[in-house]
Amino acid sequence: MAEITWELLEQQIAACRRCPLYAGATNKVPGQGDPQSPLMLIGEGPGAEEDRQGQAFVGAAGQLLTKMLAAIELPRERVYICNTVKCRPPGNRTPTADERSACLIHLRMQVSLVRPKVILILGASAARTVLGEDVYITRVRGQWRERKGVWIMATYHPSALLRDPAKKREAWEDLQQVRDKLIELGCYREIYQPV
Ligand code: URA
Repeated sequence: MAEITWELLEQQIAACRRCPLYAGATNKVPGQGDPQSPLMLIGEGPGAEEDRQGQAFVGAAGQLLTKMLAAIELPRERVYICNTVKCRPPGNRTPTADERSACLIHLRMQVSLVRPKVILILGASAARTVLGEDVYITRVRGQWRERKGVWIMATYHPSALLRDPAKKREAWEDLQQVRDKLIELGCYREIYQPV
């Protein structure tokens, strides 16, 4: 198998036709941020603004995400941010299990390249992709799992917090746990910067 590189990943995503979503995408949205960050965030899929700019989490949910990271004193540039699918689902619908599964090869490559110590999953769709199709975000959020030395936790998607601000308290608890895990693993100082 060819060695995995960022260049290869970019080429694969650019040329990808593994599911029908490519046909409606203005821009593919691979993800962005610090490619060596100890913290990786995985969302669902690009929305309208992400599709327009080719960048993950730059719309309203992205603005909230930036604030959530700032609350644990992490500038978003120091974190690697991506989605389970790299093309916008039409009308911002939730990507199907088949679409997520077709795109998983790219997410796996990203995890191999970034080699994060901590992964924070944002929302139900990403939780199903990473933790299994039978999980419910309300049940798994806030709980750590360790896989091959990587600590993984799910929390609510920022869009869910925009729809239901009552969930913000739990999301804040989850974020504090992420900060504490990074401290425990000795990698918080690498990316910490009061904002
Ligand atoms: N929602 C997501 O899950 N990802 C984005 O990039 C934007 C909104």
